[in-house]
Amino acid sequence: MKKIYLMYPQKKGTIAPEIYGHFTEHIGGVIYDGIWVGKDSKIPNIKGFRKEIIEKLRAIKAPVIRWPGGCFAEIYDWRDGIGKDRPSRISWWGYKDGKTEPNEVGTHEFMDFCEEAGADAYFAANLTGVPPLHIRNWMDYCLSPKGSTTLAKEREKNGHPEPFKIPYWGVGNENWGGGGCMTPDFYANEFKRLSVVMSNVAQDVELYACGSNASDYGWTDGLMRNTLNSRDLMHGFAMHYYCGCAGDPVSFTNEEWSQLLLNAAHMEEIINRNWNIICGYGMESHAKLVIDEWGCWHPDGSGPSRGENLFEQQSTMRDAMVTALTLNIFNKHCDKIRMANVAQLVNNLHALFLARGEHCITTPTYHVFDMYKEHQGAESIVVTVTNNEDFESSVTVSASVKDNKTLITIGNLSCTKDSEIVLEAVGMDIPKTAEATLLYADDMHEHNTFESPENVIPVKIEVDISKPIIIPKTGILAIRF
Ligand code: AHR
Repeated sequence: MKKIYLMYPQKKGTIAPEIYGHFTEHIGGVIYDGIWVGKDSKIPNIKGFRKEIIEKLRAIKAPVIRWPGGCFAEIYDWRDGIGKDRPSRISWWGYKDGKTEPNEVGTHEFMDFCEEAGADAYFAANLTGVPPLHIRNWMDYCLSPKGSTTLAKEREKNGHPEPFKIPYWGVGNENWGGGGCMTPDFYANEFKRLSVVMSNVAQDVELYACGSNASDYGWTDGLMRNTLNSRDLMHGFAMHYYCGCAGDPVSFTNEEWSQLLLNAAHMEEIINRNWNIICGYGMESHAKLVIDEWGCWHPDGSGPSRGENLFEQQSTMRDAMVTALTLNIFNKHCDKIRMANVAQLVNNLHALFLARGEHCITTPTYHVFDMYKEHQGAESIVVTVTNNEDFESSVTVSASVKDNKTLITIGNLSCTKDSEIVLEAVGMDIPKTAEATLLYADDMHEHNTFESPENVIPVKIEVDISKPIIIPKTGILAIRF
């Protein structure tokens, strides 16, 4: 048996809602036939975007969506996505899937999507493909007050007199790799060059520097060292960590179940070590972590398009557990994290949705976001668990309080044994019974398909929290009182 101590007096800080953020890149089937079906489509849509996805994003209170990439951002010309007669271009990802970019979805359309989904926009600016003036003009177009500049008037002519609300801007993407293969010293100078120009246009937006590729701490060190003299330009450190794969996405072994979760748990060390370097330079109020790509990266071909959509993968209970574990780590380290964006929303890596033509389903990962949504904006409290040292039979837990309501989210990482837990509240009286939601499948390989969209869905139960609670192997439980 494990005791879970809820240390109510020990608050870790507020969980920024943006930690529950999303990511949509112009890649594979994310935009076209993913979120976008077109205004004339027979598929129910709002302003050309799948109605089902919009409604379900609202249901999970999606706080923010990153766009247009990813790697794609580094070759994106915002002018291509404005006005009529849009050009077709070679996509960043064309070398892998042969697809071209039709630019049907541009700035106005993406902003419609965010508005309908109730989410803020996070734009990734192109650092390598265009000069700073180009990005300055994009910001002018998007953010200048009605009628104030030639570009604001052009925006009005294109149907949006008022400025768009785009509070978050990335300054490049993966500039250690696809974004220019730079050294941290070189990128730091490029970051300063572009962000000076960007911050001059808008003083009330957050600018995020390209952070490390996972545990490449040399990047973190180099970037911090070289940006100390202009620290006010930076409002976040946008790092990426993909926990990869272990075996087949769907038919994995018990060992591979545990291996992938162990890879995912490595996120905690990456957060801590990056944060230590950032604090070592006194940059903690400038370089809060923005983990703007995270998730599993399985081999292609397991999704419904059978490989046609680049990076599309099927998601089982194992991916749901990676989600539960990762979000619990984020909650626990909310004092260090400004934002996180799971990669990517639909028809891609670690997706919440799989869609094709008239079909659109949610993955088990979607349900975890739903079960965790009340953590957004809540105070994270310290949680300690006894008898939890053996990783393969451990539980992952986080807890938060908002308006006197507690949410505890627990995942049983064992794929062979149920876990018995007891809740011990410190510094607060808790009720005898509570509402709970359980996400569980008899078989950990279960997943949702177009034919069986509800193979894995959560069930609502009531639990007596004054007694030991059994969490089934591979099960995820959210308790609310
Ligand atoms: O999410 C897919 C790709 O992974 C993104 O474009 C890139 O930023 C990362 O390497």
